[in-house]
Amino acid sequence: MNSPITNELFEKYFSEVYGGRWPKLRDALAQKEKQVLRENLFIDKTDHLGLEDCDFLMHCFWKPEGFSLQKNDDGHYNYYVLDPASVIVARALEAKPDEKILDMCAAPGGKSLVIAEHMLSGELISNEMSDSRRERLLRVFHEYIPRDQRLFVSVKGLDGNQYGLRMPGEFDRVLADVPCSGERHLLENPKEFAMWTKKRTQHLAVRQYSLLSSAWLAVKEGGRIVYSTCSISPEENDEVVAKLVKKRKVKILRPDWLEVFDFLEKTEHGYQILPDRTGFGPMYFSVIEKS
Ligand SMILES: C[S@@+](CC[C@H](N)C(=O)[O-])C[C@H]1O[C@@H](n2cnc3c(N)ncnc32)[C@H](O)[C@@H]1O
Repeated sequence: MNSPITNELFEKYFSEVYGGRWPKLRDALAQKEKQVLRENLFIDKTDHLGLEDCDFLMHCFWKPEGFSLQKNDDGHYNYYVLDPASVIVARALEAKPDEKILDMCAAPGGKSLVIAEHMLSGELISNEMSDSRRERLLRVFHEYIPRDQRLFVSVKGLDGNQYGLRMPGEFDRVLADVPCSGERHLLENPKEFAMWTKKRTQHLAVRQYSLLSSAWLAVKEGGRIVYSTCSISPEENDEVVAKLVKKRKVKILRPDWLEVFDFLEKTEHGYQILPDRTGFGPMYFSVIEKS
């Protein structure tokens, strides 16, 4: 049997961040995450026979081991599989009908689907820069939303940094679910894990701040940005938002309805969902108003 790959720099960095909690958190990151089946609300009602309700999220059921997705007679899937934390992040945007909304880094598209369900009308731009991932995003829309119900959704392939320059102040809301270290994914990938250094998180933080600044420019005054990552590194999370707080006019929001999720851990500028407490995540998000 191969001995597991270790990375001392990684262990040291996160031991310093999480202290005594780190061994348990690291263990939880290496376990298989709990996922939910989110009901596809764009198609006729599905019979949820035998599925266990996810008690804190409407229209979500815990995904049983070995569950396979079914298409209905019209070729649309009845559920989308995702991390429950992703549903909370998408809901934190509080998208409404008739608004103009940007999902800046959208593929594969789980959060865009939740946003689209809340809109049903208006304009949703689901943007993804990578060609292959944009293909996947398009496929998701086709497989989940009947054609006549997705006329308000368009898929674009710009670098997210362009929106602030090309469409300043045009959006009611922007989701910036930015590329990040994704330490859970990293632990599944021995080669990448072995190469991890602190620089990786610092490089990403620079790209993330640039995308968040673009989101700030693209949203109108009084509009909302949700900034999110699936990283556990504070440099990619609160510290990115702290930079925006320092340089731009913003207000950090704490929506009341988020209080029902007792597993949310408040951070200086947002919330964190960590798998040692929940079995899902990790996820960080901050709800920001442009003032
Ligand atoms: C965390 S993933 C998004 C997950 C997605 N929001 C979801 O819920 O399914 C980040 C995405 O951003 C894309 N990306 C990376 N750099 C980008 C950029 N500069 N502009 C737009 N998208 C970018 C990546 O290809 C990746 O698909």
